[in-house]
Amino acid sequence: MSKRIPWEADILEVLINEEQIRAKTAEIAHQISQDYEGKEVILVGVMVGAVVFLADLMRAMEIPVSVDFVAISSYGKDTRSSGVVRILKDLDMNIESKHVIIVEDIVDTGLTLKYLVDNLSARSPATLRVCALLDKPSRRKVPVTIHYVGFTVPDKFVVGYGLDFDQRYRNLPFVGVLRPEIYAG
Ligand code: PRP
Repeated sequence: MSKRIPWEADILEVLINEEQIRAKTAEIAHQISQDYEGKEVILVGVMVGAVVFLADLMRAMEIPVSVDFVAISSYGKDTRSSGVVRILKDLDMNIESKHVIIVEDIVDTGLTLKYLVDNLSARSPATLRVCALLDKPSRRKVPVTIHYVGFTVPDKFVVGYGLDFDQRYRNLPFVGVLRPEIYAG
């Protein structure tokens, strides 16, 4: 698998392989397509990590979709615990009276998602739901509802398929566990 990228030295184990991701993405896309049959949906990707999942998800969907993006700053990982975040790039679209689905790669503490849900709800969309490829509930600090979940993952440092460490590994086609010696320096 993925011999074109020399990842073996940095990845401890493959947690979710390409085929598992492909099958789950198709399943979620089909479910969303059924739930929103006859409607148009705006997918809101949260940069940067969600880009890979969003690209595959939208191509597997069977209803008309538009795509927009937000970029969120958390003032660094330490201050994230305070829940203080700000929007670096806002939506280009007006979502009032639209059916909106926030697309995330991973929900960890839930702080980013809670902020986004509150922020986008205030713009009066017709409906607002959340789709996340990965859920790490053991790290949750605030309760959030994820309507469409791909996989629940343990509290390990996961990278790949959009998820990074220091901006690297996003292009791995699977989700893997990073070797501790990489992020421990
Ligand atoms: C990640 C992920 C979510 C957020 C989840 O983004 O994409 O947006 O963290 O964490 P939380 O539930 O604790 O708020 P990150 O800030 O790492 O940016 P990136 O997507 O550009 O890697």
